[in-house]
Amino acid sequence: MLNNKNILLGVCGSIAAYKSALLIRLLVKAGANVKVILTADASNFITPLTLATLSKNPVYTQYFEEETGVWSNHVELGLWADYMVIAPASANTLGKMANGLCDNLLTAAYLSAKCMVLFAPAMDLDMWKHESTQDNVARLQSFGNVMIAPGSGELASGLHGEGRMAEPEEIIAFLENHIKKDLPLLEKKVLVTAGPTYEAIDPVRFIGNHSSGKMGFAIAEELYNLGAEVTLISGPSALTTPTGVTRIDVVSAKEMLDACLASFSSSEITVMSAAVADYTPIDVAQQKIKKKEDQFSIELKKTTDILATLGQQKTDAQLLVGFALETTDEENYAKEKLKKKNLDLIVLNSLNDKGAGFKTETNKITIFNKALDKTIFETKSKMAVAKDIANEILKLLNRS
Ligand code: CTP
Repeated sequence: MLNNKNILLGVCGSIAAYKSALLIRLLVKAGANVKVILTADASNFITPLTLATLSKNPVYTQYFEEETGVWSNHVELGLWADYMVIAPASANTLGKMANGLCDNLLTAAYLSAKCMVLFAPAMDLDMWKHESTQDNVARLQSFGNVMIAPGSGELASGLHGEGRMAEPEEIIAFLENHIKKDLPLLEKKVLVTAGPTYEAIDPVRFIGNHSSGKMGFAIAEELYNLGAEVTLISGPSALTTPTGVTRIDVVSAKEMLDACLASFSSSEITVMSAAVADYTPIDVAQQKIKKKEDQFSIELKKTTDILATLGQQKTDAQLLVGFALETTDEENYAKEKLKKKNLDLIVLNSLNDKGAGFKTETNKITIFNKALDKTIFETKSKMAVAKDIANEILKLLNRS
């Protein structure tokens, strides 16, 4: 959920500031990019060096560095953030935020932030209960800010009661749940295929292709990031499984067909980006074939077209997206495949386009929908292409 999210963490002067070290550690471990703003008081409790080391970014403490005059732009920080988290949020900072005061970088970044702001109060029991604090909290919530409520327990003063900052693990869980709620594909079941298939000739040889799986893995990652429960059926590929995605490894077209048939009926969206072999040897030699004649041929038979098979089984509640990799008359072949295989979208790759196809880090696609509306995209990284494909899928879902 937090993978690649930009988190701006504001740390106020409170003994709970020591917990921000663990919070940063957990955010970074979850894949988030973290930048930290410390108030002057907070740096009495925890050093910028600790938090800079953990966040892998310089820590911001003031508007400009006295020695160099380097300016810390609060507007840029506010715009950079996908989420701003203020933890611990002291009574003082909550009061300033509630009233639009900005006498330090943290409160200025808060006023500049366009993203959701979450705050985890930390203070002594009586400060927390005070009407002014409660009023400020209510006011902040009325502006759309989200409170991660303090817990009860022993406080630094020795008193017992409410006011303890939520534990870092709780803050992470809260953030993840909050992010999840807004995800457009929340809990939707998705099937993605990726990579090549290998068709065995004998125990040591196979017929394969150059597909690396990059495009399909990127699509699986993107759909997971949008909240989907993703099953990725992959042919042989050295790529690392994206976090949160369930991977099923297969080798041959037949294995991929069986795995797809087992998952398809429960999947609401299926994206078939695998480069499945169209032909497979009729007989697989049990022993290594020895070199003899000058010429040698292998008899092949057609594999089952997995996409076309799924297209026949598809119900109105399911979306099916296919790929077409072409070298000539690209658009017509793609449109033909869309119709013939009963698809909702087809993603066309032309090997004539620079930066498109196998083994590249980039891709260039054109997408056709059922009405044969055409959308042409620029050459982009495969992750950015995956986002474009996901957007087209979202458009279809919103239309129905
Ligand atoms: N596909 C499939 N099963 C196969 C062959 C292809 O599911 N046995 C799927 C691919 O995953 C892709 C789409 O069909 O989504 C188109 O693949 P492509 O190789 O471009 O086209 P083919 O239908 O195989 O036709 P041709 O090779 O003649 O272009």
